[in-house]
Amino acid sequence: MQYDWYRRAQESIAQGSLTNSKRAETFIKGITPTHVKSGQGCYLFDPKGVKYTDFVCGLGTNLFGYANPNITMAVSQQLTKGSVYSLGSTLEVECAEAVKDRFSFVSKVRFLKTGTEAAIAAVRIAIAHSSRNKVLSSGYHGWADQFISLTPPATGVPKQTHIEQFTSLDQLKTDIACLIIEPIITEYNEKRVEWLKQVSDKCRKNGIILIFDEIITGFRKVRDMIKKILQKIALIFLISLFIYIATITIRSLFG
Ligand SMILES: Cc1ncc(COP(=O)(O)O)c(C=O)c1O
Repeated sequence: MQYDWYRRAQESIAQGSLTNSKRAETFIKGITPTHVKSGQGCYLFDPKGVKYTDFVCGLGTNLFGYANPNITMAVSQQLTKGSVYSLGSTLEVECAEAVKDRFSFVSKVRFLKTGTEAAIAAVRIAIAHSSRNKVLSSGYHGWADQFISLTPPATGVPKQTHIEQFTSLDQLKTDIACLIIEPIITEYNEKRVEWLKQVSDKCRKNGIILIFDEIITGFRKVRDMIKKILQKIALIFLISLFIYIATITIRSLFG
């Protein structure tokens, strides 16, 4: 085992790790390496070159596998053109257009650097727009004071009076500016979809801005929907083909 890297991390990094869930203590001692040197496809390699199959995908961020050749090439090509320009880039416009193309309900896009910042911005916009200042929250929305104040121990976070944990539809009253929620959680099921519809209806009725903070699914659900639509089209095509062949056969048999 690479305990040398573990020791060095403990000595140089606060709490030994940059992300809580990646701490060596959360994995099986003696089985999982404490640190990784590189990744390729679905494999990770420890500092001694031992290969492991990775089911975590970098907490879900590596949808296409580590060092995916297409992504690597696109990023390398872009790096040769410079980055962080002094003006808006054509690429950000193309990227925003690509998001709009995939989600018919998106009218405009704003890119931020982290999920925490996006959640803070969304809540701030909702408060400004609604002229109300109470916020309800359900799920994880990053480590800003207001969100983390709802999760014990919240050490070092000043008391936040404007935000409450969302636990019941009865809380959706007309003085609430917004509800920020993680729509698709790991226990995703039909009942939750029904419940989300009720939440959405009540928010609309009481003028509450409903913020969906969705990170886990990436673009996979949309792709699933497209796949389902394509499957339906393929089925309709097969049924039409079958009717066509049957008609020709009947005609040729009975004149
Ligand atoms: C739903 C949701 N919102 C916000 C965040 C915070 O994102 P970041 O760590 O990029 O600040 C996360 C992170 O896991 C998240 O899952």
